[in-house]
Amino acid sequence: MLSLSYMLVSRLLAALLVLPTMITVRALHPLQLQRHATSNCHYLPEDAGWPSWNQWGSLNQSVGGRLIAGKPLASVCYGHEANAAACTALQADWTEELIYFTDPIAVMSPKFLNDSCTPFIATATASNSSACALGNLPNYAINVSSAEDLVAGFKFAKDNNIRLVVKNTGHDFLGRSSGQGSLSLWTHNLKDITFLNYTSEGYKGPAVRLGAGVQAYEAYAAVASKDLRITGGLCPTVGLAGGYITGGGHGPLMGSYGLAADNSLEFEVVTPDKGYLVASPSKNADLFWALNGGGGSAYAVILSHTTRAHADGPVAGATVSINNTDETTYWAAVDAWHSLLPALNSVPGAASSFEITEASFFALITVLDGSTTEVTDTLAPFLAQLDQLNVSYASVITYDPTYYAHFSESVSNLPYGPFPTNNLVGGRIIPLSVVSTEDQRSKLIAALRTILGSNTTSWGISGNAANLSVSHTGLDTARLPAWSKMAYTLQINAFPDRDASVDLLNNANAEIIAGQDVLRSLTPGGGTYINEATADPAYWKDDFYGINYQRLLAVKETYDSGVILYGPGVVRSDYWTVASDGRLCKV
Ligand SMILES: Cc1cc2nc3c(=O)[nH]c(=O)nc-3n(C[C@H](O)[C@H](O)[C@H](O)COP(=O)(O)OP(=O)(O)OC[C@H]3O[C@@H](n4cnc5c(N)ncnc54)[C@H](O)[C@@H]3O)c2cc1C
Ligand SMILES: *[C@@H]1O[C@H](CO)[C@@H](O)[C@H](O)[C@H]1NC(C)=O
Ligand SMILES: *[C@@H]1O[C@H](CO)[C@@H](O)[C@H](O)[C@H]1NC(C)=O
Ligand SMILES: *[C@@H]1O[C@H](CO)[C@@H](O)[C@H](O)[C@H]1NC(C)=O
Ligand SMILES: *[C@@H]1O[C@H](CO)[C@@H](O)[C@H](O)[C@H]1NC(C)=O
Ligand SMILES: *[C@@H]1O[C@H](CO)[C@@H](O)[C@H](O)[C@H]1NC(C)=O
Ligand SMILES: *[C@@H]1O[C@H](CO)[C@@H](O)[C@H](O)[C@H]1NC(C)=O
Ligand SMILES: *[C@@H]1O[C@H](CO)[C@@H](O)[C@H](O)[C@H]1NC(C)=O
Ligand SMILES: *[C@@H]1O[C@H](CO)[C@@H](O)[C@H](O)[C@H]1NC(C)=O
Ligand SMILES: *[C@@H]1O[C@H](CO)[C@@H](O)[C@H](O)[C@H]1NC(C)=O
Repeated sequence: MLSLSYMLVSRLLAALLVLPTMITVRALHPLQLQRHATSNCHYLPEDAGWPSWNQWGSLNQSVGGRLIAGKPLASVCYGHEANAAACTALQADWTEELIYFTDPIAVMSPKFLNDSCTPFIATATASNSSACALGNLPNYAINVSSAEDLVAGFKFAKDNNIRLVVKNTGHDFLGRSSGQGSLSLWTHNLKDITFLNYTSEGYKGPAVRLGAGVQAYEAYAAVASKDLRITGGLCPTVGLAGGYITGGGHGPLMGSYGLAADNSLEFEVVTPDKGYLVASPSKNADLFWALNGGGGSAYAVILSHTTRAHADGPVAGATVSINNTDETTYWAAVDAWHSLLPALNSVPGAASSFEITEASFFALITVLDGSTTEVTDTLAPFLAQLDQLNVSYASVITYDPTYYAHFSESVSNLPYGPFPTNNLVGGRIIPLSVVSTEDQRSKLIAALRTILGSNTTSWGISGNAANLSVSHTGLDTARLPAWSKMAYTLQINAFPDRDASVDLLNNANAEIIAGQDVLRSLTPGGGTYINEATADPAYWKDDFYGINYQRLLAVKETYDSGVILYGPGVVRSDYWTVASDGRLCKV
């Protein structure tokens, strides 16, 4: 299409040379404008070029009737569809993940929902349906069931100059699973789970193939029933084969097996340029490399992902909690925790998740195939420091026969977990060097003390993602190099009120970005976990990809030369810019 319009313009320009200027200019002007708009910006529904009902209808036919018209969740609060009871029920559920991951277009991030259709409205406006708009949410979604659905989606988006997005669960903090005026490829219903005895040059052993829609809570239960474990996050509802694996993916199994991306065996995908293919270390190896850490839907849409499975066994663990009853000793205790991390990370199988707020500290420690003695001995220097500081704490040592039992004991409100959706994040990977140098560590603690306040909390995830001799696989992946030097990855969170105004969201977001900037300045040459951060226009390439960026660009060119796949912070996203009306235009 692009080259066609280019040829057309060239021919008309050639004509310009031989025809009288006045006449040609008049004849050319409207046509040229239209062609120009077509090749530079995607259409929005208000444009004459937006596909007709018939065109959407034929797309629907080509995907077996699986095309869904996008509708905001809170449309039950507005206009002729208004239903007071349904709207009240929705208000109560508004921060529950379930309503978002089961919907074809809804996303969780309040930043990208942007109040374009909030259920928290004055009753007086309930009759005004124009106060409920799609905003950043897709106009249509294909309920993907096969490679053919994806091929049809790519073709339609290309032929009709429509923005494309890919959605699995809608957890994304960067806004990569939403987009104004878009067609969404919704992979949530690809739920197959297949166990394999896998044999390849690099790996022989148990494996599991997960459809792209499989969520952690489904996979954990399934693999536990086969006495196996697989990598996955602490959050039970994140999809394992979408944003999680392509970002690298951390979790409580990191101390034994590395990041999720280190455990990959193969992907089944559809790419814009080359259609359906399998990517593994021996087939389309460049794409396999990029999918393991190269960031979101940049190169392909994943149909399934095959990952190593590991023999299950006992899991030792602990929890430690502290309340802030004295500013000085509390932050000294937080400092003491940081100085424990290098030793904790060098225990085989150890990882931790810890929450630090201005009011309290809580750590959950996991030691795969470890013993309670090992956990007790490792924690001893830290607890001794707490005693020395006269800080009171509660600590429990745990021991479970399986990983799933440990997980179930650690995470509340299963199957979906305790995590609310009204979450804005910033983040930074904190290098081991910062944590093990007293002066740099005190600067970090001082920064945390400033950043964390009444509206801001933090999560840290530690584990030896650094130690490839622990994760054993030695797989060449596109994971950010900063993981290999980390003590932990830090996430700063704000949880704006569920009915927060756009102004309030913007303020909270500005606070998060300021905190992220402070952390970047304390960790020069470090990096940021793409899945738990805010993209910074000046830094995202370095923050999310580091030295991998150029090699990732080459993969992007091979499989998506037209940059059909776009998202904020995604490789080659600087090919596009979001215009003031929300339209995606070529830079
Ligand atoms: C409450 C909460 C807890 C979290 N906990 C953890 C954790 O413990 N560990 C961790 O590492 N991360 C965690 N995350 C971050 C999580 O990894 C990211 O939000 C991730 O992007 C979610 O991926 P998804 O596919 O489920 O979500 P989506 O929002 O649907 O998609 C995210 C990205 O993946 C792309 N994508 C989705 N499906 C596909 C597909 N089939 N093929 C190709 N691309 C696709 C989308 O286009 C988008 O770029 C958490 C996030 C939240 C909100
Ligand atoms: C697609 O077709 C199915 C079945 O014919 C229909 O139920 C559905 O509403 C159609 N989708 C759209 C967006 O019109
Ligand atoms: C939110 O909407 C406003 C218009 O109401 C727009 O200016 C802004 O860019 C939007 N923000 C996001 C993150 O989409
Ligand atoms: C309806 O809502 C829109 C968007 O919020 C607003 O601009 C408009 O003034 C409202 N109209 C009425 C009649 O309330
Ligand atoms: C999507 O397709 C699945 C089958 O693959 C079906 O069970 C589900 O109801 C569909 N969802 C919607 C919203 O159409
Ligand atoms: C893998 O091989 C083992 C040992 O032969 C066998 O017990 C098991 O059923 C096989 N699993 C699968 C999924 O084929
Ligand atoms: C990596 O793990 C191995 C095996 O457990 C251990 O001997 C080594 O000390 C670890 N290295 C680091 C840097 O933690
Ligand atoms: C230790 O803390 C307790 C209160 O928790 C206090 O009564 C006691 O005086 C403190 N001791 C010292 C040495 O600070
Ligand atoms: C912290 O405070 C909470 C509630 O105020 C209390 O339930 C808990 O026992 C306290 N924990 C410690 C370690 O003091
Ligand atoms: C926290 O957010 C509230 C609004 O929810 C705001 O009024 C208050 O000023 C914020 N506090 C800080 C310390 O930023």
